[in-house]
Amino acid sequence: MATQNIYILGIESSCDDTAAAVMHNGRILSNIIANQKIHEEYGGVVPELASRAHQQNIVPVVHQALKKAGITKEQLNAIAFTKGPGLMGSLLVGTSFAKSLAYGLDIPLIDVNHMQGHILAHYIDEDGFEKPPFPFLAMTISGGHTQIVRCDSYFDMTVIGETIDDAVGEAFDKSGKILGLGYPAGPEIDKRAKLGNPKAFKFTKPKVDGLNFSFSGLKTAILYFIQKETKNNPNFIEENLNDICASIQYTIIEILIDKLKKASKETGIKHIAIGGGVSANSGIRQALKDGEKKFGWTTYVPKFEFTTDNAAMIAIVGHLKYLENEFADQNVAASARLKI
Ligand code: KG4
Ligand code: ZN
Repeated sequence: MATQNIYILGIESSCDDTAAAVMHNGRILSNIIANQKIHEEYGGVVPELASRAHQQNIVPVVHQALKKAGITKEQLNAIAFTKGPGLMGSLLVGTSFAKSLAYGLDIPLIDVNHMQGHILAHYIDEDGFEKPPFPFLAMTISGGHTQIVRCDSYFDMTVIGETIDDAVGEAFDKSGKILGLGYPAGPEIDKRAKLGNPKAFKFTKPKVDGLNFSFSGLKTAILYFIQKETKNNPNFIEENLNDICASIQYTIIEILIDKLKKASKETGIKHIAIGGGVSANSGIRQALKDGEKKFGWTTYVPKFEFTTDNAAMIAIVGHLKYLENEFADQNVAASARLKI
């Protein structure tokens, strides 16, 4: 096994990033992403524009990934692609491209669940990053998803909590929109939160049973709060922006950490891994570090480029499935609502 020389091409196109990565024996040789700037104008991802941009980007992105890795497509052992979940039009571009390339090269095709990718990104060989031992809890937080997953082995994963409405990234982005911030607003809220008082304004936390989350109520609470305050003072947002951002971020982090605490207590698992674009948030990173002291957790945050949507995470799942001979056939279809 150790002597195998495995090259995997990973392709990710589930949302608004077209990405390709080449992996050699579990290490990343290239990780290319074409971001689609077009959506900024609309304050959110426009599915039809996303799939058109994927079509324009996919050939150059794959080409660049191979070039940067310094290999030819003939050296590839398999093509891994995101089967779902995601936007159907976007998934179709990656799926059909991967199928054609695998067919043309006569090599195996490997279908990958995007959510497993976010979690197994922790298993990419990377100096200075430890891999979580099983069992561990993974919290995937991004603009499209919010889940707590119990992971007992690479492919034995159970979702034990998830959002019943908006994803946590949407909570950041929609709150930012109310405040007149650009899209995506998460990074800006994070930056301003560092300069503000997290206890300046209090927003009610949702009451959701079990380990599930809800974020749509928070967005509405913020909207009503801002409407009321700006009626009294039209400059309210400008004058208090850092405090508002700090208070919103504080509330979101409390919601996430409360559920993680509960999940850890119920399962007895203290290894906690996070993934997804929102794991870039400095407040969340700090709260996890605090959890190490307060609750005896060991926490794992992957290298930044492997947390946001990327193809390296698809390639690692491809690599692990390749070792198990788990291949897809040419009839495989994209699945927008694919579950773990
Ligand atoms: O994983 P990602 O790049 O794409 C998907 O949604 O799948 O995550 C993007 C989300 C956006 O909602 C963005 O606002 C949020 O991650 N985000 C952040 C931060 N950086 C990105 N949210 C809070 N704080 C950040 N520093
Ligand atoms: Zn994602």
